[in-house]
Amino acid sequence: MATALIILGAGMGTRMNSDLPKVLHEIAGAPMLVHAMKSGAALDPEATVVVAGHGAALVEKAAKAYDPDVIMALQSEQLGTAHAVRQAQEALADFDGDTLVLYGDTPFIRSETLAAMAAARLTHDIVVLGFEAADPGRYGRLIVQDGQLDRIVEFKDASDDERSVSLCNSGVIAANASVLFDLISEVGNDNAAQEYYLTDIIGIARSRGLSATVVRCDEAETLGINARSELAQAEALFQQNARATAMDDGVTMTAPDTVFFAHDTVIGRDTVIEPNVVFGPGVTIESGATIRAFSHLEGCHVSRGGIVGPYARLRPGAELSENVKVGNFVEIKNAQVAEGAKVNHLSYIGDASIGARSNIGAGTITCNYDGVFKHRTDIGEDVFIGSNTMLVAPIRVGDAAMTGTGSIITRDVPGGDLAVGRARQENKPGFALRFFQKLKAKKAKGS
Ligand code: UD1
Ligand code: MG
Repeated sequence: MATALIILGAGMGTRMNSDLPKVLHEIAGAPMLVHAMKSGAALDPEATVVVAGHGAALVEKAAKAYDPDVIMALQSEQLGTAHAVRQAQEALADFDGDTLVLYGDTPFIRSETLAAMAAARLTHDIVVLGFEAADPGRYGRLIVQDGQLDRIVEFKDASDDERSVSLCNSGVIAANASVLFDLISEVGNDNAAQEYYLTDIIGIARSRGLSATVVRCDEAETLGINARSELAQAEALFQQNARATAMDDGVTMTAPDTVFFAHDTVIGRDTVIEPNVVFGPGVTIESGATIRAFSHLEGCHVSRGGIVGPYARLRPGAELSENVKVGNFVEIKNAQVAEGAKVNHLSYIGDASIGARSNIGAGTITCNYDGVFKHRTDIGEDVFIGSNTMLVAPIRVGDAAMTGTGSIITRDVPGGDLAVGRARQENKPGFALRFFQKLKAKKAKGS
């Protein structure tokens, strides 16, 4: 069945105590809104509507960065969850199918759970995702009678009896679009919070003879984030799962608790990750690579057999082919390093390409920035760049060429040539001895 997602993210998130809209706070390098969008993407939605309010422009930017086709709806006043969903009605006017309401601050709903909800929709008009809460606190309570979901009661409006129910509302609801908007049009705000509660649609639906049911999931999935401490807990939970998944997928980690993944990190089998490695977004590591201790990788690709670190930094656009070695205190950005090439010590390689089997000596720097523009350095195959070479871009070093240690290279080097660009050495016989004798004599005189 065609599905449209409505993701609510207009709330202020007062308890985050932040200038940033709550749904843009990040878990594993992605805004929690994007986590919710990713969960929903498992249903292959025909349309995704994000309802934004506080910081709507920023929310739109983040949502569109993940999915350029996302439709934004504005809720300028936060009058409640039903009111929020109603803001998506116009965007979905021509849509005929199921709608699934997700919260932008509930990032961990699994795709299997959403599939179970879609399956339950085949037999029920409305499906609500619920969970048994260890501490039901202020969650809305799901009141089930004779196998049907009868109503949802918000904590503030619940009787003592209703508060003793531990089956709680996650907020995720699925229903046919026209049914959903029709029910919402009947929701009022005569309640303790004076808000338009989305949860009221269940009671209204049941009084019309529609059916409603609950699909249950684990409480951890419905974890909602309202404060920084919960954000930290969510991060920890994400990392714990990501580490376990990586190990199940055949990745060796000597100290998994010290390795941090991004939401989209991909690591191949038999790769070894040493302690204290951090992955930012956009990293793919192929099989049989080694990422040594204290390395930081982001937006990069390491091919089979690559060895990175210890203490290496791969920045966006670093593309390492098979069996490349990147050693300690090396930074690589927007550069392609071909098969078997080595950059082993203390180098910066930016906006560059390095050909197969080339060796980049210690301390080499591609001087890529003139203060305004960035320029490229292209190094051919089987090149030997001497230690401490400054390659002033734009510059090209041909295949099998060499640069002398300590050179400042400002002109292209043809293939097979040696380029030396440094002051010629001069030896002054006996100068050092005479110089120090003079200085020591001066000191002895006490001046
Ligand atoms: C809601 C549910 C409650 C459920 C709980 C689960 C209602 C009335 N209550 O309560 O049954 O147990 O979530 O966490 O639905 N939002 C808007 N616009 C608004 C109000 C809210 O976009 O006008 C968004 C928020 O940004 C948030 C989500 O909707 O992403 C939930 O809102 P929140 O105020 O946290 O609802 P709860 O009181 O937690
Ligand atoms: Mg909430």
